[in-house]
Amino acid sequence: MSVRIICPGRGLRGEVTVPGDKSISHRSVMLGSIAMGTTEITNFLKGADCLATIQCFRKMGIEIEQKREVTLVRGKGLGGLSAPVETLDMGNSGTTTRLLSGLLAGQNFTSVLSGDASLNSRPMGRVMTPLNQMGAQIYSLKGNNCAPLKIEPGTIHGIHYQSPVASAQVKSAILLAGLYADGETFVTEPALSRNHTELMLGGFGARVTSAVHEDGSATAGICPCRQLYGQKIHVPGDISSAAYFIAAGLLVPDSELLIRNVGTNATRAGFLKVCEAMGADITYLNCRGTKDGGEPTADILVRSGMLHGTTVEGSLIPTLIDEIPMIAVMAACAGGRTIIRDAAELKVKETNRIHTVTENLRAMGADVSPTGDGMIIEGGRPLRGAKIQSYLDHRIAMAFSIAGLAAEGETVIGDSQCAEVSYPEFFETLETIQK
Ligand code: S3P
Repeated sequence: MSVRIICPGRGLRGEVTVPGDKSISHRSVMLGSIAMGTTEITNFLKGADCLATIQCFRKMGIEIEQKREVTLVRGKGLGGLSAPVETLDMGNSGTTTRLLSGLLAGQNFTSVLSGDASLNSRPMGRVMTPLNQMGAQIYSLKGNNCAPLKIEPGTIHGIHYQSPVASAQVKSAILLAGLYADGETFVTEPALSRNHTELMLGGFGARVTSAVHEDGSATAGICPCRQLYGQKIHVPGDISSAAYFIAAGLLVPDSELLIRNVGTNATRAGFLKVCEAMGADITYLNCRGTKDGGEPTADILVRSGMLHGTTVEGSLIPTLIDEIPMIAVMAACAGGRTIIRDAAELKVKETNRIHTVTENLRAMGADVSPTGDGMIIEGGRPLRGAKIQSYLDHRIAMAFSIAGLAAEGETVIGDSQCAEVSYPEFFETLETIQK
């Protein structure tokens, strides 16, 4: 529908303040809705995914007021949601769908969850299996383990679930159901995924445990809960959104950019480690540590320069999973080979990102070979402008806009409006640093 033309860039300058973190914004509304009293959220991300979460809770009787600076969620407590009269619309949001599956599993009413074509083709068996083991009654209406999902009232029991994937959505769904269980709930994942749910549940008054084991696997636990209490939450800038501007500053010749107030939680900051491994000129300023269950933040100063290839694998993968399209573009511009492996999860994101990244990088002239769990990129061939298909995947649209800035000739981004899923002001901000 909407097409953006990106011309080669040079000498990017300026400061960028990225919008609030998507994962934390979702969770602040979810936890605020089932807490007693008002939760006051500042820097809430008004992207389409998080607005879908707000709409869902409104349909379950929660009053949510969105002012310019603050979002107020008038929570009604753990048992305070009411039955929605219509299907809950998840839009494009996997996070809304999977986390709400866990939360709704413990309610005494029936609900139906459905979304757009991409969402309704993504795997939901990964949450249905553990939740149904806990006693939930979740059915895939088409019998294909995808949404639409019907959730009927069930009696929830504590379990210890060994998750085959390191997924914060799976872990969070189980922990949210665990709030309503009759015993303690644990989930062990093969590597630690983002831990916002654990941190925030603790902040709202739940008893949560977490441990990383010697082999790198990690266990989170939750005790059944009587009540959560409304909080004040300041959402840090989203590192996944910052990644585009960090990459722009590194790749576009003669650039220097300052990206302010970026969340640097170690379970999310793998992208920064990869930048460093590629030889990036990157400086952290105003580092602010965690306080009261909060999240660390920093301002990030980047200067352009030559990057070199690296290997991205293992327990690093869950800490940068959403940044792999951007990393792949950086790798194509870098000298030498980059190997991305252990990232089969890319296949079940908003698109199959092994496929959509490979297709688009090849269109720009890069040497990239897809593998079963990632890709191998032989960097150093100059990128040339091309017609990019976003496939309605916000991260593809944004990563390849930055590729366009670093390429020779004009790049056309198809269906660029999909950026609004996580970063509505992306293209406006991109213009400000080119002046
Ligand atoms: C998210 C977890 C990740 C990530 C997604 C947001 C979250 O998904 O890709 O964009 O907020 O919990 P998985 O849990 O499927 O890896």
